[in-house]
Amino acid sequence: MKKMAIVCSGGDSSGMNAALKRFVEYCIRKEIEPWFVHDGYEGLIDDRIEKADYASVAGIITRGGTKIGSARSKRFMEEHYRKQAIANLHARGIGSLVVLGGDGSFRGMHKLTQESDLAFCGIPATIDNDIAGTEYCLGVDTALNVIKDAVDAIRDTASSFGRAFVIETMGRECGYLALVSALTGGAEMCLIPEIPYDLNAYKRDFLREKAQGRRYFIAIVSEALKKSDEIAKWFEEEVGIESRVTVLGHIQRGGVTSVHDRLMAYRFVTHAVDALLEGKKSSVICYNDGGFEAKHINDVASKQYSIPEELLSLAREYGSQ
Ligand code: F6P
Repeated sequence: MKKMAIVCSGGDSSGMNAALKRFVEYCIRKEIEPWFVHDGYEGLIDDRIEKADYASVAGIITRGGTKIGSARSKRFMEEHYRKQAIANLHARGIGSLVVLGGDGSFRGMHKLTQESDLAFCGIPATIDNDIAGTEYCLGVDTALNVIKDAVDAIRDTASSFGRAFVIETMGRECGYLALVSALTGGAEMCLIPEIPYDLNAYKRDFLREKAQGRRYFIAIVSEALKKSDEIAKWFEEEVGIESRVTVLGHIQRGGVTSVHDRLMAYRFVTHAVDALLEGKKSSVICYNDGGFEAKHINDVASKQYSIPEELLSLAREYGSQ
């Protein structure tokens, strides 16, 4: 019987558990023996590999995070540890792996497949939505909904108290979460690394709006800029309004998995297992224009993600009324 394993690597995202559930159930349907690797590539090296069955995935579809744990493994970058990982998989007769993670994790696994007869298929899973070649990464929708709830709640107090709130979102170097949250949260300001901004233009608009009766401001600022405190000070000094900073932090990584992410988990995993069954050795399932495609790792990991121009152009309207 064919044996396939699944591993989560790097920052967890909501939807990973739904993916584990689909993986186990689809493998069994396809007469493949499903296996879990615990704690990312660290677990591969240290042999924390265990057979999975229906009971292992019962009741997890709603929960954020990942039941099998995740990690960022420095050791996996060293060849002798990868050799150890290969030996552990060979010892169990596991021939292929589904990897839930980001492009760094895919690059690491690509090395391992070049050094062995093993195959892997990646599923883009990160709240940052920063993987080239795919429009969507698993967990982004849930993260956006968590941010939406936070922004809505902050608006209640901002409007009552007449304050400016600077809300810092995650995303590493990518402004996707901040951009979409600003548009969908009705923010007055959106600062992301992809778009240069002009504080003088914002000041002109904000002073005018204040004079017309505006009592509060919501600013969404991407963590990449490292400017949240500075912007809060700017509101006090230049716009003349009391301000507060809310760093949303790791709440954005958790939360009950949204319907969209549950369905995407289901679809991503189905395509990943199918790609491995078709004999693809080093591919990543990408989602674009409503469809899925298994792309070679080199078409994904060697390129830089950029936010679609259409979204960027909407965000460029900020600070330029
Ligand atoms: O990549 C996911 C992410 O949550 C980023 O948005 C964030 O910058 C980073 O991971 C935080 O990493 P850690 O959980 O190690 O603090």
